Amino acid sequence: MSHENIGVLFNSELQKEIKDRFYYVDHDHLGRKRLFFENSGGSLRLKSSVEAKERYEKIPDCPDRNHDTSKMLQKVKEDGIRDILQIICGAKSGALVTELTASQVMFQITQTIIENVPGTNVVTTSIEHPSAYDSAKYYAEKTGKDFRVAMANPKTGGVDTEEILKHIDENTCLLSVISASNVSGNVLDIEEIVTEARKIKPDLYIISDAVQHMPHGVLDVEKYQLDGVNFAPYKGFGVRGCGYGYVSDRVAKLPHHKLLAKPENEWELGSFSPSNFAAITAVVDYVCWIGKQFIDSEDRRTLYVEGMNRIHLHERALLQHLLEGTKDIPGLRYINGVNVLLDSENLQDRDLISAISIDGIGFKETVEQYYKRGVTVFERVNTSLYSKRIIESLGLVGAIRISPMHCHDTNDIDEFLKITSQLVEEITKQSINV
Ligand SMILES: Cc1ncc(COP(=O)(O)O)c(C=O)c1O
Repeated sequence: MSHENIGVLFNSELQKEIKDRFYYVDHDHLGRKRLFFENSGGSLRLKSSVEAKERYEKIPDCPDRNHDTSKMLQKVKEDGIRDILQIICGAKSGALVTELTASQVMFQITQTIIENVPGTNVVTTSIEHPSAYDSAKYYAEKTGKDFRVAMANPKTGGVDTEEILKHIDENTCLLSVISASNVSGNVLDIEEIVTEARKIKPDLYIISDAVQHMPHGVLDVEKYQLDGVNFAPYKGFGVRGCGYGYVSDRVAKLPHHKLLAKPENEWELGSFSPSNFAAITAVVDYVCWIGKQFIDSEDRRTLYVEGMNRIHLHERALLQHLLEGTKDIPGLRYINGVNVLLDSENLQDRDLISAISIDGIGFKETVEQYYKRGVTVFERVNTSLYSKRIIESLGLVGAIRISPMHCHDTNDIDEFLKITSQLVEEITKQSINV
């Protein structure tokens, strides 16, 4: 197995420092010992981000006045916009979209493109979150465009490029494709998809839901020439209550919701809280701090990219550990009674997620049994409105999603594996009431 597949763990000193920077990694808010392996549903919080939010939330001043406090808040906002667009998204131009949630951002961007860009069809995939899928379907139907869905590959948990390309032609108005699956962790090859799709239609509008992928890898809208992405800070170590997006210059100028007197490419609508910008800047500072442990640079994007790549390598090592275990502790692939779903030998194109099922026990009950043993995980099942289409298109009825994050270490994974083995043993002995 290649070095890239195995990943690279942070050294133990750095790992400890990282852990200390998050709230409730080993114990929950009531002091109960707990492993939070549900980071795809909302990640553990970076202390500095929560503290920044609190610090600036206390200040009542409007950022649009001409005094020192107002100017300070204005600077917080400018730094936040720079961090979202240039540092996280890798944009060199374009505009910021702010909403309360990432879903609202996706609806705004999708509506604007479908209502204003000529074309007779809209293409998306079967593994999109409902905010991307439903907005594409809703506005395609509203404007009389054909709605086309590229189907998942149940073997990889992603969507093959060729399958997406089959649906694109010179009349495609929009391609909306997720960056990484929030069920399997499969990272789609956005570079290849964009390059090949634009061979069919050179000026094709392409957007990507990056909510799942943003906390695990680098986004680069400039390199991939994307027209829009969205992400949610509460899934990326930050705070709840805001969703962000990037739109390219050409999308920014399309008719959209805005105050009429504002510039044509302005998407800011209303008074967005400086505290939310301070909270995202704290996230970027943190990732840059990780980057600084490995390289010497004064460039913020360079440090951020290094930090995210290091996070990705550490998470790959954790995923390998979770699947393979050690010589004393069997990994998920080797525990009799555990089925690893949507698994792949190649871990390079995976976010830190494993989807499993356990023989002899339902998904909901499995989550409850884990919770009783101090582990928080989540079931993605075909009876949920959020999961049905995605899960079924992956050829499943459900899956337990195991999603640790980079502040965890191999001891946490070992603990989880031991609990899983015990749980399976008890189910086998029928000693628990399931
Ligand atoms: C891949 C993906 N996209 C979009 C969303 C929507 O995010 P929000 O709940 O902030 O609107 C989620 C939330 O689970 C998600 O996982």
